[in-house]
Amino acid sequence: MVKICCIGAGYVGGPTMAVIALKCPSNQVIVVDISVPRITAWNSDQLPIYEPGLEDVVKQCRGKNLFFSTDVEQHVAESDIIFVSVNTPTKTRGLGAGKAADLTYWESAARLIADVSKSNKIVVEKSTVPVKTAEAIEKILTHNSKGINFQILSNPEFLAEGTAIQDLLNPDRVLIGGRETPEGQKAIKVLKGVYAQWVPEDRIITTNLWSAELSKLAANAFLAQRISSVNSMSALCEATGADVTQVAHAVGKDTRIGPRFLNASVGFGGSCFQKDILNLVYICECNGLPEVANYWKQVIEVNDYQKNRFVNRVVSSMFNTVSGKKIAILGFAFKKDTGDTRETPAIDVCKGLLGDNAHLSIFDPQVNEDQIQRDISMKKFDWDHPRHLQPSSPTSVKQVSVVWDAYEATKNAHAVCILTEWDEFKKLDYQRIYDNMQKPAFVFDGRNIVDVEKLRKIGFIVYCIGKPLDQWLKDMPAVA
Ligand SMILES: NC(=O)c1ccc[n+]([C@@H]2O[C@H](COP(=O)([O-])OP(=O)(O)OC[C@H]3O[C@@H](n4cnc5c(N)ncnc54)[C@H](O)[C@@H]3O)[C@@H](O)[C@H]2O)c1
Repeated sequence: MVKICCIGAGYVGGPTMAVIALKCPSNQVIVVDISVPRITAWNSDQLPIYEPGLEDVVKQCRGKNLFFSTDVEQHVAESDIIFVSVNTPTKTRGLGAGKAADLTYWESAARLIADVSKSNKIVVEKSTVPVKTAEAIEKILTHNSKGINFQILSNPEFLAEGTAIQDLLNPDRVLIGGRETPEGQKAIKVLKGVYAQWVPEDRIITTNLWSAELSKLAANAFLAQRISSVNSMSALCEATGADVTQVAHAVGKDTRIGPRFLNASVGFGGSCFQKDILNLVYICECNGLPEVANYWKQVIEVNDYQKNRFVNRVVSSMFNTVSGKKIAILGFAFKKDTGDTRETPAIDVCKGLLGDNAHLSIFDPQVNEDQIQRDISMKKFDWDHPRHLQPSSPTSVKQVSVVWDAYEATKNAHAVCILTEWDEFKKLDYQRIYDNMQKPAFVFDGRNIVDVEKLRKIGFIVYCIGKPLDQWLKDMPAVA
């Protein structure tokens, strides 16, 4: 029996290990974390993260071959394969601040593995890390090895939140990078043997270490680039009368381009895209490739532009001020079917509206008040550190109230901003919402999910990203 341990019980470690446990019943899988509340939650009926299908998988395996524990040292010492899935935030200070990956958590995990190991181990990079991290980790482990053999593999995770369980059960590919030595190849074979229990062999790609590490950064950069590309077109569509949905449809019909990831929106979010691109930019700069760095930096700049553009559109349409006005925010998570708010565009939009002194009433079906207040008051990049290292009670922002119902959020509001594409927002009774709002009543749809014609008939002034503007919005142009 291969004993597997995963350091880091987060959005990646938890679901990934749950699926490995489900598909490999003869392996023992233990997920460890330094966060006591997180592990307590994994062992309870209220899992620490919301992900469709996750609870079912955890319930099937927990206590049989899947365990969650805070006893990091013991389980690392006893395991054959150790996945490291700790957070790799953007550095906030020192060399590379604002760009480079902060490998503090990774390094401390590696030092712990070196300290407690008494037998040979395969150490698997699951976290997204800069290219050549494996070399650094190898150095830490071998310089402290006491004769133990460590093989480092890179096995980046490509799951998307909201569909994590489906992605893990049926991945497009599993990528494993390792050293091109006999020991390295042997380690690759062992890890391949784990995935081969449910993933077809032709979807398990093996490469050298650096290709695997870079492929993850490249994949996220390409995905984010598609969003920024279509979002840049959305601005041009609004200026010219073209419709971004029609343009994206026509463009995506080209089989070389394909239709996915071409939805214009208020901007991308999530814990990875921005962080990984910044990291890529930093690596390019360090390798003397400023043109390449600038090319990728622009993907983030367009994303920031899109969020600013949205805020400017809201303010300019509402007589150039939202001061003292109630604005309902529907959706705070960075996308539907997740409660994750890391780098959600809602944070920047809310901060922008608060900057103009708006009063916000926020509703998201999966995000609670504490999280929203934290996000709005926290400094950039601080979110990506374990909870116990964050400020315990951030000052709550007075002009923000968080409610548990879309109708409550919109009552007496001047405007509604839709910032997450939750299905339930498509089905709201917009007539009822309109009747209870101040007039003129505005809807700013940052996800293009509402039936624009229907809402206009009700009486709303409607703004949708990249769609032809109605006369009101044309008369009140937003200054970018
Ligand atoms: N979230 C995603 O969709 C996603 C997808 C692919 C890859 N990734 C990458 O995976 C990594 C983890 O992401 P996440 O979203 O799961 O992060 P997360 O913050 O949800 O989880 C990380 C966990 O690691 C724990 N931790 C930190 N240092 C530790 C240590 N020394 N010992 C034990 N536990 C420790 C933290 O307490 C935390 O619970 C990141 O590098 C991220 O870029 C994330």
